[in-house]
Amino acid sequence: MTQPDLVFTHARLLQPGQAMDATPHHVYCRGGVIERVEPAHRPVRAADRQVDCRGRWLTPAFTDCHTHLIFAGCRVAEARARLAGASYAEIARQGGGIRATMAATRAASEEQLLQQALPRLDALLAEGVLCVEIKSGYGLDFASERRMLRVARQLAQLRPVHIQTTYLAAHALPPEFEGQADAYLAALTDEWLPQLAEEGLVDAVDIFCESIAFSPQQGERLWQKARALGLGIHAHVEQLSWQGGAVAAARAGAWSVDHLEYLRPQDCAVLAGQGATAVLLPAAWYHLHEQQLPPVAALRDTGVPMAVASDFNPGSAPFASLRWSMNLACHTFGLSPDEVLAGVTVHAAAALGLHDRGRILPGQRADLLLWEMDHPHQLVLELGTAQLTGRWLAGQAITP
Ligand code: NIG
Ligand code: FE
Repeated sequence: MTQPDLVFTHARLLQPGQAMDATPHHVYCRGGVIERVEPAHRPVRAADRQVDCRGRWLTPAFTDCHTHLIFAGCRVAEARARLAGASYAEIARQGGGIRATMAATRAASEEQLLQQALPRLDALLAEGVLCVEIKSGYGLDFASERRMLRVARQLAQLRPVHIQTTYLAAHALPPEFEGQADAYLAALTDEWLPQLAEEGLVDAVDIFCESIAFSPQQGERLWQKARALGLGIHAHVEQLSWQGGAVAAARAGAWSVDHLEYLRPQDCAVLAGQGATAVLLPAAWYHLHEQQLPPVAALRDTGVPMAVASDFNPGSAPFASLRWSMNLACHTFGLSPDEVLAGVTVHAAAALGLHDRGRILPGQRADLLLWEMDHPHQLVLELGTAQLTGRWLAGQAITP
């Protein structure tokens, strides 16, 4: 048998979804994949590289499965207007919101978008995120959506990270299609998407189903095309009101249904049956001063996997931090710290259709983090206490 090329010795392991166990283990990897996990009382076998963890905690790398981190412009004026009483929907109806970011993004060059996105991505990576989903959706025309997706692909070349792209042209109606939502959906579905998919720029599609955006019925056309092209499906659903988008998207085969504040408890069984992951975005809920809480107990009771993501975007969640969302998920949505840790590892990966990461088990990618901390719940309940002392992407050490 070929010897492992990497071994982590005497590591305490965070195994998402399993009871916390502080006994040390050795973790052997080869070719970027975890090969074997053994209790540390066994002798250490030879490997090309050895990392002596000395009882520190090894965790799966985090996945941020819902971000809009490519955009231009800034919307603090809107945040101030909301502090003075205006609602997110009112601002959107008056031409602010997504359309304001669209105008700034259309005016930015590919290079400008890239340079602005890099530090935001770096902020996530510094927290231990090594897999990031990035949506388009601020271009709202073919050339600008394409530019955003190209920037997302370039980010993956420039940083040690796995990036998955999502085509979100169905985010808002651009001004040139005012009053013609169906024509816009036809264009973005039948003309633009096949070309962008052909160029290899799209991994999945998304749509904002909301009274201020599109209906679940309008989503059907996009979902059908996505399936035909072999792409994944995400959907922004039940964020500000119940529209029935979560059940419709889940039935259409969605990997994830996201936001869900207005999801009805009786909808959860459908999500569970369809195998969709519920992506909870507490930072947007917090920043928009929402009151309606997602039906976490019903999601839990029906066994719907729950992921937690940052939703990082300039309007509803201007926070380039997954850790902040992890904390909020406990304190506002009532998830347990263990649920949150599973929600940013194994379930976040599943929300992206990825089943090869998020656990420290044989066969899983060696996307790993090494932490100096007393207890993994510090990752959820505290900020600035746990120290990230090492990161490995597919078994390759990332230098700080
Ligand atoms: O996930 N809800 C729709 N889209 C984003 C917000 C986009 C924006 O306001 O720029 C979200 O919250
Ligand atoms: Fe979003």
